[in-house]
Amino acid sequence: MSLDLDGAGAVVTGAGSGLGAATLDALVGRGARVLALDLEPDRIAARAGVTALGVDVADGDAVAEALAGWEAAPLRLAVACAGIAPAGKLVGRDGPHDSATFRRAVEVNLVGSFHLLRSAASRMAALPPLADGQRGVVVTTASIAAEDGQTAQCAYAASKGGVAAMTLPAARELARHGIRVVAIAPGVFDTPMMAGMPAPVREGLAAATPFPKRMGVPAEFAQLVLHCADNGYLNGAVLRLDGGLRMGS
Ligand SMILES: NC(=O)c1ccc[n+]([C@@H]2O[C@H](COP(=O)([O-])OP(=O)(O)OC[C@H]3O[C@@H](n4cnc5c(N)ncnc54)[C@H](O)[C@@H]3O)[C@@H](O)[C@H]2O)c1
Repeated sequence: MSLDLDGAGAVVTGAGSGLGAATLDALVGRGARVLALDLEPDRIAARAGVTALGVDVADGDAVAEALAGWEAAPLRLAVACAGIAPAGKLVGRDGPHDSATFRRAVEVNLVGSFHLLRSAASRMAALPPLADGQRGVVVTTASIAAEDGQTAQCAYAASKGGVAAMTLPAARELARHGIRVVAIAPGVFDTPMMAGMPAPVREGLAAATPFPKRMGVPAEFAQLVLHCADNGYLNGAVLRLDGGLRMGS
């Protein structure tokens, strides 16, 4: 049974840019009340039904407090989009990969997703079930780098591999609460994160995508988030959304 988003509560991290911003738009379009979190909340477009807050997802207490203080609607959907994509070689020109960069990627991408998952699931578990026993859905954002990480992506790939790996155990554990957990593993999407990459890298990745030969657009990601809410049989899965792209080294 699908999750009716009209009037339902949703939380989106990384809602100020790229995939999170497109998800926020899509949820508002479906009539959801949304708690929009971002490290840079000024980027979040103000509109009716949206509460924007500045939160670092790596700070578990801050994520928990943001959710605890938001009472606009029963929380039925949580979407983790906040993320960073540092690149660095293990053996670089200036020496070994610095461990602070590696740690920050894991803290934001993996631990940040975990913080949203645990806080949102706790809120959802306390709600009365819907007619089919469902209480809510958590969607996280992995990456195809979890499977085909490229050179200089050790930190990013490790963090996204963790996001993908926690999907099934989380879905198994939360099944008794009627909470589904799905991860989306995007290929290459045209967002400010990708805009930071050199043009030849962006063009090469678009050209390497079998079909269509272009980067994904954020609205296509948001469409899949909505489908995760809509399709009540989708659970415990990591869904690649990549135009068939398999990244080379
Ligand atoms: N764009 C792609 O091609 C692509 C591919 C695969 C996976 N992803 C993943 O999708 C997610 C969104 O990426 P995007 O392309 O939209 O990036 P983006 O840079 O456009 O947006 C990311 C947002 O997250 C916020 N953010 C960063 N660190 C944060 C923190 N510690 N706490 C709260 N907010 C924080 C940023 O302020 C920004 O608004 C990321 O997890 C990224 O790794 C993106």
